[in-house]
Amino acid sequence: ASPVLFDNHGRPLEYVRLAVTDRCNLRCFYCMPEQGIQYMPKRELLTYEEMERVVGLLAGLGVRKVRLTGGEPFVRRDLVPFIGRLSQIPGIQDISLTTNGVLTEPHIPELVRLGVRTVNLSLDTLDRARFAAITRRDELPRVLDTFYALLAAGIKVKINAVVMDGQNTQDLVPLAELTRDLPVEVRFIEEMPFNGGSHGAIQIPWSHVRIREHLEAHLGAFTPITKQPGATASEYSLAGHQGTVGIIAAYSRTFCGTCNRLRLTAEGGLKTCLYDQGVLDVRALLRGGASDAEVTAALAHAFRHRAADGFEAERQRPVHQLSFESMSTIGG
Ligand code: GTP
Ligand code: 5AD
Ligand code: SF4
Repeated sequence: ASPVLFDNHGRPLEYVRLAVTDRCNLRCFYCMPEQGIQYMPKRELLTYEEMERVVGLLAGLGVRKVRLTGGEPFVRRDLVPFIGRLSQIPGIQDISLTTNGVLTEPHIPELVRLGVRTVNLSLDTLDRARFAAITRRDELPRVLDTFYALLAAGIKVKINAVVMDGQNTQDLVPLAELTRDLPVEVRFIEEMPFNGGSHGAIQIPWSHVRIREHLEAHLGAFTPITKQPGATASEYSLAGHQGTVGIIAAYSRTFCGTCNRLRLTAEGGLKTCLYDQGVLDVRALLRGGASDAEVTAALAHAFRHRAADGFEAERQRPVHQLSFESMSTIGG
């Protein structure tokens, strides 16, 4: 199916990211404080029925891909039956997950049965002590069990590693080395400073350019693989490696021009850009009794009026209006 809705800058709508919960069982320091964030009461979260309805309407607007994020999606009860219901929606061809892998392993056979083809696994280091320092939980063994079980089950795995100056830069080469013998994509992500404090710091220590130079110095030259339109990662092959390496310029934002996605936060806020502060309260519409046609029209209107470059808009906001949100509420 070809896209049916384009925004005001000619970008198609193809992909929605659903944050199914704002809760998480880890405490990655780049995402939330030790004590966690102020979680939303359950009644403020969209119900599975509400999310299913929105995805159905978005499918009618051309969305083909759904990614479930969080928080940690497997922290929400009955996630797997919900995936089953999403997979029945006409037009939805791809259901993927971004997970930290702590609770994922027991669900893998069901995920295979439901046709989940790709899982993005957050993993910033292969060193147990550094994993515990970064996530503030000693869960590396369970995450690795999930990783190997996914591969054994034939699910494509993309590892997401956030590059943090002074925290895990010694882990970049060992993580990339996984691609030598395993058919995995290891993606390195520029750390995004989601707070007013680091705002204005346009220079991040580990830019996508520096990440690539560092890896090539140790592993040899990268060969670029042609990017799918709308993809976040620039992907590379390495001679003799089974897998590939990706670099996501999440902070430099080299990919806004082809951005094809919408986000729905756990409480039903619609974001047309990672950096916008919510442009539509979908939950209020749903709970206020709006018809399918009304909800569809509101979603389409929001997408058509997207900022060309939401990051630029964010940079121009006065400090007191900046987003202090955790990635866990935004859904990444
Ligand atoms: P694929 O569907 O496999 O392409 O995954 P993805 O890269 O879109 O999603 P994933 O959940 O694995 O996120 C990887 C990283 O990309 C995270 O750090 C996200 O926050 C970041 N990211 C995803 N979408 C955007 C975006 O629109 N803008 C920016 N700046 N970063 C994004
Ligand atoms: N910068 C970049 N990536 C982040 N993630 C969480 N917080 C940040 C941040 N501040 C990543 C997680 C997960 C993905 C959805 O977002 O590692 O893989
Ligand atoms: Fe949890 Fe992901 Fe945030 Fe880490 S980055 S605390 S795994 S939501």
